[in-house]
Amino acid sequence: MTTKCLVRGSINIDEYFHVKSISRPGETISSFGFESRPGGKGANQAVAIAKAGGSVDFIGIVGPNGRWLINELHSHGVGIDKMVIVEVQNTMTRLSPVLHHAANHIELPPPTPGSLEGFTHLLLQNEIPLKSTVEYLSAAHKLGIITIMNPSPLLTAEQTREFPWRKLSWLIVNEGEARDLLASVGEPRSVDTIELVLPPEGAPEDLIAVRSAHMIGSKLVSHPKFKSINIVCTLGSVGLVAFVSLAQGVGKMALYLPAAKLDGPVVDTTGAGDCFTGYFVSGLMGLKQSHKEDLIGAAGICVQRRGTIDSIPLREEVVV
Ligand code: ADP
Ligand code: NA
Repeated sequence: MTTKCLVRGSINIDEYFHVKSISRPGETISSFGFESRPGGKGANQAVAIAKAGGSVDFIGIVGPNGRWLINELHSHGVGIDKMVIVEVQNTMTRLSPVLHHAANHIELPPPTPGSLEGFTHLLLQNEIPLKSTVEYLSAAHKLGIITIMNPSPLLTAEQTREFPWRKLSWLIVNEGEARDLLASVGEPRSVDTIELVLPPEGAPEDLIAVRSAHMIGSKLVSHPKFKSINIVCTLGSVGLVAFVSLAQGVGKMALYLPAAKLDGPVVDTTGAGDCFTGYFVSGLMGLKQSHKEDLIGAAGICVQRRGTIDSIPLREEVVV
């Protein structure tokens, strides 16, 4: 079966000044370079899926000064036919991230079933109006599309209590976000016993972090609101714990997967989460060449390179 993912999310212009040091309060420093690069979690994750070899379309909104972002997405292999350009009245200034934030927050009409035809997966974050995220999630769920969400920035407590979690197939959060979700919905009445499966090579070095994630995740998936979802809880350099049902109607298991062992220093963790999410979704899409080691390896390469979109490796670069 051929799979195709739709990402409905944010796209920004990220602007960078190159400086020798960070200024102290009141101090003026000169910058020796200025650069604009594409950003936004939606765009980053769509590019990560494309670089991982998946077929992906992105739907997001840019203002008139963001047309080049669409070309950037296209150059990385992301389908851009659904992109929307709005003529936001504004002058292009250095504050353009603000302008694009505005463009991201314009509401699009809800998707029609026809507009979702051909998609097997939907990936969402939380940098666009939550109303739009919920509309896409609901429409996709109705059509039996696999839905994945990396809710960053995290929903407020009230939004968390009202969100239709049962329509979600997969939730990707870091440990702090998992804790906050649990705090928003409250502890479950009873906690299911979920077996923690460690890799064949045995216990991880940071067993305390893994056990703690196992406890929080077990509580979360025991909560009526989250019971039906598979949850991936990422743990930075420690790796991840995934709470998954291996078959319909069978209880969940917690699988620990260590992070990549790096052969160099951590240079820049920006984008590692987006790289991870894109590679993870490409794995769900069942690409023939995907392995769980690729997922870990891709994020490991990403933290050893500067940049966001540029630091996401192509699948060929991820050595298994
Ligand atoms: P987020 O940035 O969303 O908080 P994490 O920090 O948990 O996400 O990182 C996501 C994934 O990126 C981790 O599961 C891991 O595979 C990888 N990763 C992050 N930091 C490192 C690191 N220092 N070394 C190796 N892998 C890392
Ligand atoms: Na990076």
